[in-house]
Amino acid sequence: MPMLNKQTKVGVIGAGTMGAGIAQVAANAGHSVVLFDVAADAAQNGVQSIRSGLAKLVERGRKSQQEVDELCARITPADQISALADAGLVVEAIVENLDVKRSVFKELESLCGEQTIIASNTSSISISALAAKLENPTRLIGMHFFNPAAVLKLVEVVSGLHTSQEVADAVFDIAQQWGKTPVHAKSTPGFIVNRIARPYYAEALRSLNEQAASVATIDQVMRSSGGFRMGPFELMDLIGQDINLAVSESVYQAYYCDKRFQPSVLQAEMVAGGLLGRKSGKGYYSYPQSANVAAEYLPSFQASDASNSITVFGELGIAAELVSLLEQNEVNVERQSAEAAYLQIGNTRLYLSNGLTATQRAANCDHDDLVVFDLARSYTSAESIAISVAKQASEQAVQDAASLFALMGKRVCVIKDLPGMLLMRTVCCLVNEAADAVNQGVCKAEDVDVAMKLGVNYPEGPIEWGVRLGFSNVVLVLANLQKSYGEERYRCSPWLLNEQFAT
Ligand code: NAI
Repeated sequence: MPMLNKQTKVGVIGAGTMGAGIAQVAANAGHSVVLFDVAADAAQNGVQSIRSGLAKLVERGRKSQQEVDELCARITPADQISALADAGLVVEAIVENLDVKRSVFKELESLCGEQTIIASNTSSISISALAAKLENPTRLIGMHFFNPAAVLKLVEVVSGLHTSQEVADAVFDIAQQWGKTPVHAKSTPGFIVNRIARPYYAEALRSLNEQAASVATIDQVMRSSGGFRMGPFELMDLIGQDINLAVSESVYQAYYCDKRFQPSVLQAEMVAGGLLGRKSGKGYYSYPQSANVAAEYLPSFQASDASNSITVFGELGIAAELVSLLEQNEVNVERQSAEAAYLQIGNTRLYLSNGLTATQRAANCDHDDLVVFDLARSYTSAESIAISVAKQASEQAVQDAASLFALMGKRVCVIKDLPGMLLMRTVCCLVNEAADAVNQGVCKAEDVDVAMKLGVNYPEGPIEWGVRLGFSNVVLVLANLQKSYGEERYRCSPWLLNEQFAT
């Protein structure tokens, strides 16, 4: 199999959302591209949509008109598959259907040279299945771009059981030459990103289903404390509830109904009710989005008298930043060594969530005024912090907790006393899913982080986040969640169980 290079003619099949974007990426890198689509005028329209998209870059001064003209001139629209005969690489981006894709690949095999690499942009079909009927299945590979393909850097280079290493390496190299960041992945349901991202939606849906907080509050916590660009509900509204549910269901079915991937009945109800999100005008929010959908914060608190006496017990780990924040705000903090780690203000103890509810923890340590606070990616930059209050706690406990965070300039959202709160449970499940993908050889640990940051804009890779949080803490949160729910959903990956002793 020859190496691919700039002189390689690239064929793209399907001139829709993804195909047009991929054709643009290849032409931008200097390739001569043939864009083929069966639908009348679709290829022409694809080139036109590329041109319109690029016109915006010309307006912003990021490309010259000449560059755009030259780029578009390198793309030849075609309505016959025979135009792809001399392509060295063909990337398919047609309808997501195994039989239709297979028949196109069969045709390509008889049409193109033996050296031609055939890549599929499928997001959910097994690469091994797509290759199974080919005479030479070693040349078929997944080249999974993310939408919008011209913008997002990630390309999952997905090898099926038949794909040769030579082909995987050649596609990896060409993706790099196209300015992308490729990662190798093994063909498994959801590949890397669509599998590992499931808990981001699933845990939010479960939290909402259990009435932990409003949609807007959950989104705010995930943005403010988690650093995610979009909250899970606004993101699902953008993707479309139907598309998001279809991906969740396909991953769930593909893993033989592994409870870890169980879709939410809440989302199924949204789809059944036609509340699909932006495209239907209403999903979790109404569109155009009304301005008054805000997170539910406690009213601003003045620091109470108790704020004169703040003590930090033990080592707060990832939440140690809170102590620096208090000190920066000239609060006198006393430190005491202890096995348990918490902050005390007046009689109120504040613990970082460990997967148990505040009520359970208050009972365990026999201290009523107990508040649990959620994880934050950076307590310094988080505008607000979510807290849960033990059932046994007095009114004063909420005031003390709010005072403590007010001293750091933070607003407070009180959510229901949910095990693992909102961000903590989500991050631990993301780490766990990433760990399992690594454990099963889907990809390398460092590639998980690259994939999640570049494919879905995560602020931090799950493995990096797990290291900062401490894998043993992730294991503890998962174990407590499993205990609370009695469900397999939170079973810990063997990789994580082992790694907790290595980091
Ligand atoms: P699309 O519906 O926008 O475009 C598909 C195009 O393929 C249409 O223009 C259609 O006329 C053409 N087509 C259908 N059957 C054909 C055939 N037999 N021969 C030639 N052309 C044919 O679809 P989209 O969204 O671009 O998706 C394409 C593929 O990319 C699917 O496999 C999808 O799963 C995958 N994908 C989609 C992403 C997305 O966000 N839309 C992201 C990553 C992958």
